[in-house]
Amino acid sequence: MIAVYPGSFDPVTLGHLDIIERASKIARKLIVAVLTNSSKLCMFDVAERVEMLREVCKDIRNVEVAAFDGLLISYAQSIGANAIIRGLRAVTDFEYEFQMALANRMLDDSIETLFISTNAQYSYLSSSVVKEIAKLGGKVDAMLPEATHIKLLQKIGRL
Ligand code: PNS
Repeated sequence: MIAVYPGSFDPVTLGHLDIIERASKIARKLIVAVLTNSSKLCMFDVAERVEMLREVCKDIRNVEVAAFDGLLISYAQSIGANAIIRGLRAVTDFEYEFQMALANRMLDDSIETLFISTNAQYSYLSSSVVKEIAKLGGKVDAMLPEATHIKLLQKIGRL
C-alpha cells in the first residue's frame, strides 16, 4: 500500500510524528504531504514545514515528504496512492474528518481513507495549541520534536 498523510503541519508535532511512525509500519511507502495553498494563515512557509518534516522523518526509511496544492485526491492519484491516512484525536475531530473522507470517496472510491487513533498522551495536542502556548511564553518542549522546538522558538524570537 502506498499511503499519503496530508496536512498543514504548521509545525509538525509529536502527535503527527506518532501517526507517521505508526502509518509507516502499515504502508509500504508513506508520503507525508504538506498542503501549499491552505486557507489557514500559517506561521511557517511550505519550504520550512517540509524541511522540519524531512528532519524528523529522516530515519524512517519508507517515508518521503512532499508539498502539494489543489485537490488532495488528484495529488493522491498522481502519486499512485491507494490510501489517505488521517489521525483522529477526539470525537470533535470526527465530523470534519468524516465529511472529508466521504467527499474524497465520492471523488475516487478506489482510494480509502484510513483513520489512526491518536496515542492518548497526545490527544490534547494540535499545532494551534502549541503555537498559542509558545507565543504566550509557555513550555512546549514536550509537545514537539527537538528540531521543530528550536525552529519554533527562533520563529517567535525566544531563541
Ligand atoms: O492538517 P489539516 O489542516 O487538518 O489538513 C487538512 C487537509 C490538508 C487534509 C485538507 O485541507 C485537504 O485535503 N486540502 C486539500 C483540498 C481538498 O482536497 N479538499 C477537498 C477534501 S474535502
